[in-house]
Amino acid sequence: MVALEPDAEIVSPVTYDPAVPSVARMYDLLLGGHAHFQSDRDGVRDLLKVAPSSVEVAAINRAFLVRTVQTLVRDYGVRQFIDHGSGLPTQRNVHQIAQEIDDSCRVVYIDNDPMVMHTGRTLLAGNPNTAVVHADMRDTDEIFSSKAVQDLILPRVPTAALFVSVLHCIPEKGSVPPARLVRQVRERLPADAPAYMAISQLVSPRLDVRRRITDLMADLTQHHWGEVRTEEDVVGYFEGMEILDPGVVEVSQWRPAPTAARTAQTSDEWTEFGGVARAH
Ligand SMILES: C[S@@+](CC[C@H](N)C(=O)[O-])C[C@H]1O[C@@H](n2cnc3c(N)ncnc32)[C@H](O)[C@@H]1O
Repeated sequence: MVALEPDAEIVSPVTYDPAVPSVARMYDLLLGGHAHFQSDRDGVRDLLKVAPSSVEVAAINRAFLVRTVQTLVRDYGVRQFIDHGSGLPTQRNVHQIAQEIDDSCRVVYIDNDPMVMHTGRTLLAGNPNTAVVHADMRDTDEIFSSKAVQDLILPRVPTAALFVSVLHCIPEKGSVPPARLVRQVRERLPADAPAYMAISQLVSPRLDVRRRITDLMADLTQHHWGEVRTEEDVVGYFEGMEILDPGVVEVSQWRPAPTAARTAQTSDEWTEFGGVARAH
């Protein structure tokens, strides 16, 4: 259904530089993937010194993403996803999770990392219900007017926007702070069907930890990073929405599968905090 011209949707590309760690590749490494360079391995080594639970936190977050997508498709009738900051597709991805339940599910992936775009387009070639848009997730106008969104996100179909482990990549002082980004995307979701938002973000109750990790990641990624925030900040992103049970929580507590083995953090300097809400 969708035949994207190469680079047709490029809005604000991040430079491809194997010498500079990228959030997408570091996260892939933390998840046990193989799409990383020496700079990413060095970056993760530095990160683990200040945030030793990072491997577990990444796994816990990814499991939250899986449960969220399954729940939205199975229990809320969602058939369309816009996945902001989708990451490297070396893991089980949103379209695979959703299409296991209903193969008509459609997914638009958004990421500003060139390697994500390249790998994603290669992997998704031949899957007509998916597309990758290479864009800064704050460029909501560009994203919603892209061919991918126009072709795949149809009116009158329950739709979810995902912001899973991405809003800490967005600085408060930038052009579009996270709360505004969530609001502007919420306003663009199809108005004539139920709409949902799933959000998680890295938080810490300790100011010294927030500052130390924020500074390290900004330094490592040459400022392709935002902020480690607080639980209250994340609750604020859901303002005006109907939050689904069990609320906005440390994400391993979000509807855990009763029988699945759970990853536990070995230290608690930071956590992924989030939830899912009906946006309208
Ligand atoms: C930690 S990964 C999260 C991946 C996936 N959402 C998950 O939870 O498993 C963050 C992703 O957001 C992407 N990203 C960061 N800032 C972005 C921006 N301004 N626009 C688009 N993507 C961005 C990174 O390239 C990376 O792939």
